[in-house]
Amino acid sequence: MIQQASQRLALHGTDAKSDLDDFASDVRAGLTSEKKRLSCRFIYDDAGSDIFEAICDLPEYYLTRAEREILERRAQEFSQRFDESPTIVELGSGSSTKTRVLLNALSDTFDDVHYVPIDISTEMLASTARDLLDAFPKLKVTAFAGEYNDGLRFVHDEIDEPTCTLWLGSSVGNLSREDAIKFLRSMRDTMDGHDRLLAGMDLKKDPEVLIQAYNDRAGVTESFNRNILLRINRELGGDFDPDQFEYKVTYNEDLGRVEMYQVSRMNQNVHIRDLDMTVSFEEGEPIHTENSHKYSLEDIDTLAAQGGYSREVQWFDDLDRFSLNLFKPV
Ligand code: TRP
Repeated sequence: MIQQASQRLALHGTDAKSDLDDFASDVRAGLTSEKKRLSCRFIYDDAGSDIFEAICDLPEYYLTRAEREILERRAQEFSQRFDESPTIVELGSGSSTKTRVLLNALSDTFDDVHYVPIDISTEMLASTARDLLDAFPKLKVTAFAGEYNDGLRFVHDEIDEPTCTLWLGSSVGNLSREDAIKFLRSMRDTMDGHDRLLAGMDLKKDPEVLIQAYNDRAGVTESFNRNILLRINRELGGDFDPDQFEYKVTYNEDLGRVEMYQVSRMNQNVHIRDLDMTVSFEEGEPIHTENSHKYSLEDIDTLAAQGGYSREVQWFDDLDRFSLNLFKPV
């Protein structure tokens, strides 16, 4: 018997208050530090998550298409690696568009498929879950609204079946090398031997191609990046005038990463009411808003080893722009 969609859905999450506290303390620390910075994870509120969906369709942003191509080609092979369907946990699930490809293949192979999306945007999570439950009549969805760490703790405490955690879109690349290792290790510590991690990682390539992927002609990535300033205005009572900042993108060869900045166009003070602070900017002074690390094949294996994993399979798109890696804990 097929159950009603509502009976196949459970929604969990952390409260918005603790997220706001995290945001406030990150903004305070970042804007009082010698080199001003803000953490990219705060770009993804409901508004930011919507803009990100538009990024995925940009002609310059090859990552999503390359990763989807790999998933489409390998979904069946992926499913066949398992004796029973692993519970599919996903970090930063967004609209789950790419994940559908895997859920499709798993549903063809197995009777019961369980999906546990973890995302910061409750709105996106709820609407995506409804769509998926309609599309897959036997799918069970346990959605978690909150940060990765809270989501993984929830999975560890509440989910007994073997899991395969998806970390797509080269999101690992938005963490510094040390933070990536730390996070991979903490995730590994919640995994059993039969659990897996499927991670999408973008590859090193011509810097010009990389820069364009993060500085599209339509200016969508620019407004995505700007969302963090607007969010400070909305949630912390800031008075940033985003027009007084210029978006800048560079490729840092030494660290192998695209770097994104908001550069002050003039000497100016920005007041943030709820933090009771005034931030002074000089003309030309940058706020470092985002990094996106790019990997060689060697980088991938080194990172995996440092995080406590070995690589089981590695797949590429036709043009070798992007990699999808299945890791197992060691
Ligand atoms: N993980 C994605 C990436 O690094 C996220 C992303 C795409 C992004 N475009 C961005 C993050 C622009 C910040 C700014 O490609």
